[in-house]
Amino acid sequence: MRHPPKSQAPEFLDMRGLEPREFAGLLAAVRRTNRWYGGRTLVLRHLERFAAVIPGRPLVIVDVATASADIPAAIVRWARTRGLAVRVVALDLHPDILRVARRLTAGLPEVLLVRADAFALPLADRSADVVLNALALHHFSFDEAVRVLREIARVARGGFVVNDVLRSWPAYLGALADTWLLGRNRLARHDGPLSVRRSFTWEEFGALARAADLDGVEIRRHRLQRAVLVRWPDGRDGR
Ligand SMILES: C[S@@+](CC[C@H](N)C(=O)[O-])C[C@H]1O[C@@H](n2cnc3c(N)ncnc32)[C@H](O)[C@@H]1O
Repeated sequence: MRHPPKSQAPEFLDMRGLEPREFAGLLAAVRRTNRWYGGRTLVLRHLERFAAVIPGRPLVIVDVATASADIPAAIVRWARTRGLAVRVVALDLHPDILRVARRLTAGLPEVLLVRADAFALPLADRSADVVLNALALHHFSFDEAVRVLREIARVARGGFVVNDVLRSWPAYLGALADTWLLGRNRLARHDGPLSVRRSFTWEEFGALARAADLDGVEIRRHRLQRAVLVRWPDGRDGR
């Protein structure tokens, strides 16, 4: 089989009312993934290019499905070291997750946390310089992911950076090894490998972009088994 078989089994991350410490451990595992396997760096590298070509300050960034808002927090630290003004609107639907995000972003006034559904973002058309969406498309079916991508494109004035794990054997085996050998959280051991099986292949990411009519989108393959869908500001390819 070329790819791990597709799964539609539910993830613990989408459930409500789980034991708080165990659930916090699952969120910590997601943050660790971003830290260790390039999730944060991927976003910051792309933002460098947006910041260079988008005139006017502050840079308005929307992060859709933000989880514990570690990427918005990293963006604020990155911006502060560059003397760049940013406003990050960080959205998620899960109330328990937003509670953790509030705690972790206390003291970062640049981050505004809002409970919102990715299918109906409470934002005007073309209201954000950059819309981000990381590690989240796999929470949706193909048709749902198309709807989310259309919402992202609607809100993005400058462009967007969407990325998620590829449904590939290296990603699957990596998630198994990471969660079983390096982590101890029972929920992460379930959700890590399952996230890969819920996700999309390289060809399917292309099909998603076409189905969502994403004009001018570039699809890149990140070396750590992620697909990245980027639309650069003003149609520039950012290279
Ligand atoms: C794996 S986390 C990704 C978190 C973060 N973007 C990152 O890179 O670490 C997926 C997030 O999607 C959120 N989510 C799932 N369905 C959603 C929806 N319909 N609207 C908004 N957020 C949603 C979940 O609550 C969860 O926080």
